[in-house]
Amino acid sequence: MRISVIGCGYLGAVHAACMAELGHEVVGIDVDERKVADLAAGVAPFHEPRFPELLARGVESGRLTFTTDPSLIADAQIHFIGVGTPQQQGRLGADMSYVDQAIATIIEHTAVREDGAPVLVAGKSTVPVGTAQRLADRLDASGKPFLLAWNPEFLREGYAVKDTLHPDRIVYGLSDDVARGEQAKLLLDECYAKLLAEGSPLVVSNYPTAELVKVAANSFLATKISFINAMAELCDATGGDVTRLAEAIGYDDRIGSKFLQAGIGFGGGCLPKDIRAFMARAGELGVDEALTFLREVDAINLRRRDRAVALAEEAIGGLGGRRIAVLGITFKPDTDDLRDSPALDIANRLWDRGARLAIVDPAAAPRLNERRPEFETPATVEQAVAGADAVMVLTPWKEFVELDPESIRGLVNQPVIIDGRNVLDPRRWHDAGWRYFGMGRGVSVW
Ligand code: UDX
Repeated sequence: MRISVIGCGYLGAVHAACMAELGHEVVGIDVDERKVADLAAGVAPFHEPRFPELLARGVESGRLTFTTDPSLIADAQIHFIGVGTPQQQGRLGADMSYVDQAIATIIEHTAVREDGAPVLVAGKSTVPVGTAQRLADRLDASGKPFLLAWNPEFLREGYAVKDTLHPDRIVYGLSDDVARGEQAKLLLDECYAKLLAEGSPLVVSNYPTAELVKVAANSFLATKISFINAMAELCDATGGDVTRLAEAIGYDDRIGSKFLQAGIGFGGGCLPKDIRAFMARAGELGVDEALTFLREVDAINLRRRDRAVALAEEAIGGLGGRRIAVLGITFKPDTDDLRDSPALDIANRLWDRGARLAIVDPAAAPRLNERRPEFETPATVEQAVAGADAVMVLTPWKEFVELDPESIRGLVNQPVIIDGRNVLDPRRWHDAGWRYFGMGRGVSVW
């Protein structure tokens, strides 16, 4: 099929490359000339496992092109909208201006085919519930034969290619006009034929359900993380170990063991902004009470950062002039994304309180240098920990999780390890002569 993807940020670029991998002819469009030039040359503008290979293969095959010229989307049978919906400056709600601009571009540049065949607009961006109907009305008013479907994206950074090519589920939100809904479904079925044939479950519903699925899923995940972080607060107050607690409750498969990792909390481009936008939308809909619990979820999450800073201060008796080695600065491993990174927030606060920082991150050092040129970013863990008064693991990159406490013991000024993600073995560090501090791990020797 001929497909356009509007918006070639993280979501759009990965989607475009994956659609080309499925055999479609794909044009990705974005206003950012530098990004488009990189993508068109087959160079990944962000760190994402497997994406560079897919991108290169698609570009070489000629099936995957990128452009800033919107006229090149004219003959697409499906336009996917993959633009960002960031949090509005100073407000909880999502900024919809990029989505609105994408719709304007589609309306202006879609060519009406001679056979009058409909053109499908498929929304992938995370939007406030009610957006799809509003956009469908705009498309209808254009007089061109558009169909609209909402087809949310559930990809996780670090697993984006896998999540797109082998999704846990595919969701279609279709028009209440059954005939048009069926037409839209046929086009999406054709587009995703391979994934459906491989058994990806398909859930079909109306627009609001599809829009809600996405924010409901992310709210549930955020709630799960904040729940275990609340338990970490209880563990800190009582001497319990939240990692054992999570392990024990996780064996109950009604609860499940995933997303029960207590630590410095969630960040990134999705969970924090999505729960806030969801609360804002519930307020507009007059059902804000249904989501007041998310305010608590957000508050618990932000308290983890206070706790990490306080722990560092307690552990080394003050921050002013102290040298702290920070291991990991991205919001999670296997990405170079710094958006709403708890690790970066904690580093900023330590810096503001007078600490001297040496930050190592396997992927984000260049981005960090752009944003905070005053931070020291040595190339190796050994250089970072040399002379440190504390070592803090803030992002669980594999190389930090597997760090050998013996090998770096002799380099530091004080053997203090703060495990912001509860990924280290306290006893192993203790036996190697370190003072170990976790997030809600009490003083248990078990
Ligand atoms: C998330 C959703 O998982 C994904 O389905 C959706 O499409 C986009 O938003 P992502 O933002 O890539 O994906 O990150 P995710 O893996 O969900 O992690 C989010 C944050 O939660 C990270 O900061 C991570 O470190 C943190 N986290 C995750 C925890 O603190 N504890 C956990 O147990 C799991």
